[in-house]
Amino acid sequence: MLATAVLLVIGLCGSLTLLRNQAPVQTLLAQQKPLWLATYIDDVSPFTCASFGSAWQHGVHLHILGLKDPGNKLKVIRNGKIRKVVAMRDWLRSVPEEAVVVFNDATDVLYLVSPDEVYQAFLNISAKLSADTVLFAGERNLWPYFDDYPERPSTHFKNPDPWQRLALYPTSNQSSFRFANAGNWIARQPAALALMTRWDNLMKLRKYKTIMGHT
Ligand SMILES: *[C@@H]1O[C@H](CO)[C@@H](O)[C@H](O)[C@H]1NC(C)=O
Ligand SMILES: *[C@@H]1O[C@H](CO)[C@@H](O)[C@H](O)[C@H]1NC(C)=O
Repeated sequence: MLATAVLLVIGLCGSLTLLRNQAPVQTLLAQQKPLWLATYIDDVSPFTCASFGSAWQHGVHLHILGLKDPGNKLKVIRNGKIRKVVAMRDWLRSVPEEAVVVFNDATDVLYLVSPDEVYQAFLNISAKLSADTVLFAGERNLWPYFDDYPERPSTHFKNPDPWQRLALYPTSNQSSFRFANAGNWIARQPAALALMTRWDNLMKLRKYKTIMGHT
């Protein structure tokens, strides 16, 4: 049973590797769709293969960011979340302005519906929102990082600035998941690019440049 599962995962990953190397197929598929989907990985694992397998089953064509890293531009960034944001921003610059873009993490995400359903759901929701809205999953981790290292608000913050910034976050009476999950969002390309650029600039301005090797 386990052997079958392992073989299946290897088989799926093998197919995906083949697909990824067929640039004309990738370009053709991407051009036909108003919805562009991307994920980021540093390395292939059984978890990422399970995620890619579910994408494959639902006709989701994933742009896999992170593996191709000319000049090791991303590797010098030690913090994975910052590396991901930089990769997303760079990739978004090559996506057409009229596209709707979905980004999901790779190790804990399964695809359960077709891209058409995702696109239709986005149109339904975004009809009531302005075009520059980015819809993202909320989480309890404080992110993007502020002046101190910890992700969660805590008494270990050494200066009051993070608390002042925290006060700027929108509150909700229904949920304690107030913070952005960088690995789960959907938006029109210009809005997504603006947010990634903002996150990147925000983190660059901070001391993460030295702490995390962000260049
Ligand atoms: C979008 O809205 C239409 C009209 O209300 C509805 O029929 C359809 O099921 C919705 N689609 C999705 C994917 O939410
Ligand atoms: C949240 O609670 C406050 C105080 O009870 C109330 O004034 C406000 O309208 C609520 N907001 C939402 C979005 O429910």
